Amino acid sequence: MSEFLRVAKTFTAYLRRPDLYPELGRKIIKNIFNRKSAFKGKEKTLSWASSKAVSQSEAIYKLFGMNAKSFEELFPTELKTAQQKERECPIKMGGAGALELIYYSCEFTNAQNVLETGVAYGWSSFAALLSLHQRNGNLYSSDMPYLGQDGDEFVGYIVPNNIKMNWKLFRFADRESLPKIFKENEIFDVVHYDSDKAYEGMSWAYHQLFSHLRNGGVFISDDINDNSAFQDFCEKMKIDPTIVDFEGKFVGIFIKNQ
Ligand SMILES: C[S@@+](CC[C@H](N)C(=O)[O-])C[C@H]1O[C@@H](n2cnc3c(N)ncnc32)[C@H](O)[C@@H]1O
Repeated sequence: MSEFLRVAKTFTAYLRRPDLYPELGRKIIKNIFNRKSAFKGKEKTLSWASSKAVSQSEAIYKLFGMNAKSFEELFPTELKTAQQKERECPIKMGGAGALELIYYSCEFTNAQNVLETGVAYGWSSFAALLSLHQRNGNLYSSDMPYLGQDGDEFVGYIVPNNIKMNWKLFRFADRESLPKIFKENEIFDVVHYDSDKAYEGMSWAYHQLFSHLRNGGVFISDDINDNSAFQDFCEKMKIDPTIVDFEGKFVGIFIKNQ
């Protein structure tokens, strides 16, 4: 699809969704006045993250004192079914991230309430829900679907039906979803950021998520190397995060007030 067609399709999809007009307005303003700032500080953070990075299992041991098993060992049947569903899905979205990191964060905190931004197929939702389901806890997710692809109905496609009762999905941009989620539940045990990857969007959401995370709760952000928002946030808040090298990308994680 040409760039022009992609933009036209996305724009038309926005027009059909009045609840996403505020995000459309923000995107237009950003593209006119602030195009380059999405990648602000990318080089600086790449060398910072590379110098600190450990593997997923090292991070789980260091932070939680747990020897992580892989999802293949923990949930072989559920994983195979989810992978099969991903293959069958007519819409192509991003693949699975650091599932064990999310799962063990929920186990470590005995999570009752987890908040995530960015769902797509639902791999991170799958990881959190497999832990939450054991305690009848709740996952609150914010996701504005890939509008260029008519992908609405496929958001969370790989999440098994038997754990969906523990899941509340808010289908708006984060700036609209998060206030709605905080009205339903104020304090969370784990927060996971994986939605808007622009500097401003990340910085805004990090402060929101941090202030609604309990002491001893776990903060995780995917793709921290797209710009320096995570590094700058941690430096400002005097947090020394653990950085996980995951398939060539970096994930940031820390326990609040530890
Ligand atoms: C990388 S994918 C999420 C992957 C997911 N966490 C997983 O593990 O499968 C990012 C998702 O965030 C959504 N998104 C992007 N910008 C957003 C925003 N401002 N508010 C809410 N969702 C957004 C995208 O539409 C997409 O579904």
